[in-house]
Amino acid sequence: MAEQNAPEYPPALELEKELTRKERQIEYLQPELRRYHNLMEELKQGMRPIGTIEDVKGDTALVRLSGGQAFQVSIPPELRDRVGTSVDAVLSPTKGVIVDVIERMKDRSLLEYQVEKAPKVFYEDIIGLRKELHSLRQAIEWILDPGTRSRREQIIRDPRMLEEAGSVLLFGPPGTGKTYMAKAVAGTISNRGQNTSFLKIESYEIVSKWLGESAKNVKEIFKLARESAPTVLFIDEADAIGRARMEATTDAGRDVQGMLNQILTELGEGFHVNRNVAVIFATNYPSVIDSALLDRMKRIIYVPPPKTREEVKRLLDSYLAKVEVDPAVSTYNGGLTEESFDEIWKVIRSRRQIYEASIPDRGIAVRDQYVITPRDMKNVIQEAASEASFAGEPFVSMERLLTLFRSLSSEERPSRLVS
Ligand SMILES: Nc1ncnc2c1ncn2[C@@H]1O[C@H](COP(=O)(O)OP(=O)(O)OP(=O)(O)O)[C@@H](O)[C@H]1O
Ligand SMILES: [Mg+2]
Repeated sequence: MAEQNAPEYPPALELEKELTRKERQIEYLQPELRRYHNLMEELKQGMRPIGTIEDVKGDTALVRLSGGQAFQVSIPPELRDRVGTSVDAVLSPTKGVIVDVIERMKDRSLLEYQVEKAPKVFYEDIIGLRKELHSLRQAIEWILDPGTRSRREQIIRDPRMLEEAGSVLLFGPPGTGKTYMAKAVAGTISNRGQNTSFLKIESYEIVSKWLGESAKNVKEIFKLARESAPTVLFIDEADAIGRARMEATTDAGRDVQGMLNQILTELGEGFHVNRNVAVIFATNYPSVIDSALLDRMKRIIYVPPPKTREEVKRLLDSYLAKVEVDPAVSTYNGGLTEESFDEIWKVIRSRRQIYEASIPDRGIAVRDQYVITPRDMKNVIQEAASEASFAGEPFVSMERLLTLFRSLSSEERPSRLVS
């Protein structure tokens, strides 16, 4: 036996750690994956060509699709009295027959989006993230705030130099404050007297079940953003745009490509058209974002989770200050005493969360290890407060906090803690 040539195995412990890490990542990606599968299925099965009826002659009609091609199609008897040039037609997949009629495109609102006027979140509400917030503010405040813009115009005298509105990409693990920061921009600028709207879009919602309408949805969203300007247009889950585009050979794939092109066009319109609209994209998976879209990002900002004991304590104290806490463990400003926090810290510091992301085109690679996100902390405090009130107790006790943090740290995470 040539024992001296035995292969060198990595220490079992390292392997095991790696395994746990991968398992966590899978767990974290599963729901995401299911959602995309569903979306793709819907796209493939449910997408139906839709077009404008331009002419009706007997039992045939001339229907023009949003892509521009026109088809001579037949009208089934049961639809005959509903088909006319004032409605739109839904065609069979082979585009030979009208299968349904729907309201005229221009009369139909494709999407129902909520524009939030002057949201009640401000820069002071954001704990940590100084550098990140600074970078975000520098990139977009001038687009929204006339005061900031006029200062900018005093320095940049040639208006052509001003036209680089550009958008921002925020990325990072879930629950670290990406949406919160974007909202705080709109809230803070509103507070200064410039009423600013916050319009949030989930990327996968833009994809329409009507072929050719995904691009229209994009147009409509930007139009809405301009109409409610100044607006922070927040496009969440931006990776969905890149992912869905992969099947570019199918009708559905082409539709998504059309949607992406429309986004690129809208972003390219620049300062004159999208005056007062600041576009912020966000994602947990920046590596999947389409490279053409990435090119439009003026700034890419990593939004990290808190990492030190001090950062975690500041966040926790800020949430605890908003609820009643046992006076025996809290300080005058509503936070926890150092000794009490130590008990909690002992419980959560053994959690091992890993976030990995890369954007090779921009030379960005992040690998971060942390114990807890702001969202998790907020959820625990909210849960503790509602349990305490339900139990008829006057405040949140230390035992309650410890129990909840323990269950957060154990494998069996109660589902109610996941927001
Ligand atoms: N830095 C922070 N300071 C204070 N509170 C925060 C911070 N980050 C997150 N929170 C709290 O956690 C909640 C969730 O944060 P947010 O929705 O911004 O996460 P996110 O980064 O957008 O996550 P996702 O990637 O899942 O969309 C916020 O409503 C806010 O209350
Ligand atoms: Mg978010």
